[in-house]
Amino acid sequence: MATLPLSYPMSGGDGPHSYVRNSSYQKAAIDSVKEKTKEAISKILDFHNQPFKGEVFRVADFGCSFGQNTFDVVGNIIQTVELKHKQEKTEEEKIKNPKKELEFHVFFNDQPNNDFNTLFKTLPLLLSTRRCFAYGVPSSFYGRVLPRNSIHIGHTSYTLHWLSKAPEDVGDRNSPAWNKDSIQCTSLVGEASNAYRVQFKRDMADFIEARAEELVPGGLMIISGQCLPDDVSMVSTWKGVVIDMIGDCLFDMAKSGVTREEMVESFNLPIYFPNTSELEEVIEQNGCFRIEIMEEVKHPMEDETLSNDFIVSKFRAIFHGVIEEHFGGGLIDELFGRFAKKLTSYPVDFKKCRKDMQYFIVLKRYVF
Ligand SMILES: C[S@@+](CC[C@H](N)C(=O)[O-])C[C@H]1O[C@@H](n2cnc3c(N)ncnc32)[C@H](O)[C@@H]1O
Repeated sequence: MATLPLSYPMSGGDGPHSYVRNSSYQKAAIDSVKEKTKEAISKILDFHNQPFKGEVFRVADFGCSFGQNTFDVVGNIIQTVELKHKQEKTEEEKIKNPKKELEFHVFFNDQPNNDFNTLFKTLPLLLSTRRCFAYGVPSSFYGRVLPRNSIHIGHTSYTLHWLSKAPEDVGDRNSPAWNKDSIQCTSLVGEASNAYRVQFKRDMADFIEARAEELVPGGLMIISGQCLPDDVSMVSTWKGVVIDMIGDCLFDMAKSGVTREEMVESFNLPIYFPNTSELEEVIEQNGCFRIEIMEEVKHPMEDETLSNDFIVSKFRAIFHGVIEEHFGGGLIDELFGRFAKKLTSYPVDFKKCRKDMQYFIVLKRYVF
């Protein structure tokens, strides 16, 4: 029997530990590129050649999760496309079809165990009108999830640091890449680091390849997310420090018998922040897109000292799924209780940490 690909959804529902209640950091990132997104669509999308020939305009959000973030993203795209379409309607079209308005198909993609129920129960008015039809697409975006030549604008934010899986070698005690002492960052040197890099490049290439097939010629792919400046390693950033601290808590729990040491040693987060040059290299290697925009954006919380409560809640909502997948249920409360205590004893010194980077990329599918 075929098995589903590994999948680690964000914490579901709308309770205190849910992603909807604990994703203001990602929301701030989305807000920070809202105007840039509008500007890019207004300038780069071309109705009169490709990609748009009919009356249905198709938008997809890859790795949408659920809640306000994806609705804001998709709403912004729809409103911008609508406005541009109205402004650019030819005189002939205005006379022929004065009342005809654009219709939208919106595809929400995420892993099958994403909380699609909450997503569809909370669809805002804009996305549930007769002119806007919403669909769920439960599948890994590292393969094709939509028909060929069907999407006019694809979008993804804060998703591509999630690998399809942690590289196998880093969890293998017989491999030189065995990443025994940490769940990602501290030992991320030499072979282990290389294994993560190879996995990222493979996954990112698969993502771009799949989108190249799904987007219509002239269609746009808008990508935002997190990476690292070339001279910065993950362990020197505040997110690296926090991930290592969560790893330390797991090792402490193994010492006190809550879990087994081998379980912690074989646990590696399927997460990788590429360096900018690695990111650029993979995108350039796929010959199907022109890079219209690739720039650094300042995260609105970049200069803030985030509170311990904020850090614990954010990482709990994100890592709940992946930790439960490996260790089984029942360990999350204790783990994040320990993490909160450790953070109180050893608060992150944001001033000493190096900054990670946020990027904004717009690709245009070549019309061959
Ligand atoms: C941090 S959340 C970001 C959600 C949303 N885009 C936002 O900006 O708030 C990352 C999302 O990517 C999804 N994801 C990770 N790997 C995926 C994959 N291979 N295929 C589809 N979705 C994936 C996760 O399930 C999760 O919902």
